[in-house]
Amino acid sequence: MEILRHAVVLVHLVGFAVLFGAWVVEAVGQRRITRLMTWGMVIAAVAGLALAAPWPADFTPNYTKLGVKLVVLLAIGALLGIGTGRQRKTGTVAPALFWLVGILTLTNAALAVLWR
Ligand code: HEM
Repeated sequence: MEILRHAVVLVHLVGFAVLFGAWVVEAVGQRRITRLMTWGMVIAAVAGLALAAPWPADFTPNYTKLGVKLVVLLAIGALLGIGTGRQRKTGTVAPALFWLVGILTLTNAALAVLWR
């Protein structure tokens, strides 16, 4: 069970890497919202929700921290959704919206690592 949990953590980290990596590429480039960001977020979300369940039996999740991470994730999802829509209509995305996606993604990684 322990090895399975670690495998799901690995998938969660791949999601984080895809989301943040895609964002960094755009931060030094065109500053656009891309499909890769949404894919990374979906992967991190699915694996994160699986990790939020109390398994193996001797593991108790920090539900306060996970609640905060979930709210941050929903905010990232909303920004990506709004950004994708606006970009499709106008061809550009507001700088504040773009930067917030990266800041909130890093915030969730920091919460995961620093809040023990
Ligand atoms: C974009 C959103 C997210 C990012 C960037 C992110 C990032 C991370 C990172 C970097 C870790 C590794 C920390 C470590 O092992 O030291 C982690 C672990 C974890 N994340 Fe997330 N996360 C996100 C969303 C979520 C959500 C929505 C949940 C669940 C509600 C969640 C649940 C967890 C759990 C339970 C762990 C700990 C794994 C363990 O040690 O057993 N994450 N996250």
